[in-house]
Amino acid sequence: MPKNPQLIPLFNDWHQKYGNIVQFSVLGLNQVVLNTEKAVNDLFVRRGQHYSDRGIPTAVADGIAKGRVAALMDRSETWRSHRKLIHAILSAPATTRHEPAIELETLYTLVGLLDDPESYSAHVERYSFGVIFRVCLGRKLKDINDFIVQESIKSTGEVLSAFRPDKFASNIWPALLKAPDWLVPSNKKLKAYVARLQNIINIIRGDLKEDMDKGTAPDSLQKWFLEHIDEFEISEEHGAWIFQAFLSAGTRSPYNVVMQYMINVMEHPEWQQKVQEEIDAVVGKDRLPRFDDVPNLPTVRAVIKEALRHRSLVAEIGIPHKLDKDDFYEGHFIPKGTLLHANYSAIVSDRSLYPDGPVYNPARWLDPSFPTYKEPLTTFPTLMNYTSFGYGRRACPGTYFTERILTIMVARLAWGFNVKKKVDPKTGLEIPLDIKYEPTPNPKPFPFPAVVEVRDEGRARVMRREGEEGARGDPLGKERK
Ligand code: HEM
Repeated sequence: MPKNPQLIPLFNDWHQKYGNIVQFSVLGLNQVVLNTEKAVNDLFVRRGQHYSDRGIPTAVADGIAKGRVAALMDRSETWRSHRKLIHAILSAPATTRHEPAIELETLYTLVGLLDDPESYSAHVERYSFGVIFRVCLGRKLKDINDFIVQESIKSTGEVLSAFRPDKFASNIWPALLKAPDWLVPSNKKLKAYVARLQNIINIIRGDLKEDMDKGTAPDSLQKWFLEHIDEFEISEEHGAWIFQAFLSAGTRSPYNVVMQYMINVMEHPEWQQKVQEEIDAVVGKDRLPRFDDVPNLPTVRAVIKEALRHRSLVAEIGIPHKLDKDDFYEGHFIPKGTLLHANYSAIVSDRSLYPDGPVYNPARWLDPSFPTYKEPLTTFPTLMNYTSFGYGRRACPGTYFTERILTIMVARLAWGFNVKKKVDPKTGLEIPLDIKYEPTPNPKPFPFPAVVEVRDEGRARVMRREGEEGARGDPLGKERK
């Protein structure tokens, strides 16, 4: 099988040739691609009680996660208790309490961009980790060279690579997971992957418990969990794995969407201008946008939603669901154990909802002549319940949190900076973008040329002033040593 995101063109080709529901089989495993929102809603949502297992490859599920990572386990009591805790900490009211912390992280990012605009990718990645560090772990993050961040990035790459059947024999013959390492060397690799994860978990948990014992632990979601552990049927060990998972699930995707926003506005500078005109009209030049401006910034929300749509079109395939009993749907027999893929790319370019198909056009969320338009514009467009976050019982529990961290970051980025294509000094011409994505699930774009340039000196002063005020009032003070 080709690797994600090369799966997307393949699925789209099969969609054209074979229709809305396509069945195929790989190494005896029956799989189905669902190409319409209706089919995905009918099965993943309406028949969700049977379409919500995961069916993750053995190397990942049994070699690494071992029933400790919600996204990577079948439905079970353990999964339910994980989701209960995740919902409790990522729900809308819980997230609203963290808005000041999220705003503060944007300030560090803006100052980083002023000081060193060429490292824009590192600053955005630091932001996505910085929010999770601060809110979930009660830690302050200086830069992405931090040991935990670097280990987490490596670890996420390792986990994603373990989905591959060509590198991990146990994904083809599960029994091989129990074979000795000398016979199946990839088993040794899996043990090293687990050791790295466990080390991250031990450091985070060890530091937190030490600080809690001393009475110096700052407020954080992980501390709150330990204080309320009796209200959840989750062991301390599993709780630690849940917070570790946020370092991958909760950092990579938001980073990817900010990068996609940058790519989109470089290709379509007229949308950067529209966003900036809106922000300038609502906020003015003398202060940064704040969370309470967001209801008045529908264009900001529209470019973010369109960035997510764009990623779903070209790069993101989601996580498959597994069926737990034989079923029939629209004349198709779907046997128990089938893996089902919602083809987000086909769904977000379905002509009945998206008349211009794959074309980049945030106006579809703002102009009543498009079928995707919804009022009131103080709420819509919103990311809630959008295709890119999946469907039914397994849908992403981090959507609201994501919406908060993306809107304020993109609004402030657009308020302060122009993102432009680089000019080749030899020819004086713009360097065309040729964006490629990593060949893994949830891929990052490979580095691309861009110029991030402050809009004017007045705005630079405002960002520095608000940045200094933020840093002075930072409840975490300096980063933990
Ligand atoms: C742009 C941001 C994000 C996108 C596009 C995204 C997308 C997704 C998708 C497609 C799924 C699978 C849905 C399905 O199976 O139908 C998922 C699951 C999940 N996401 Fe997200 N996500 C994002 C951000 C986050 C954040 C910030 C967190 C946590 C802090 C998070 C935590 C999770 C978890 C724990 C699951 C597993 C749910 C389960 O299997 O029951 N995600 N996400």
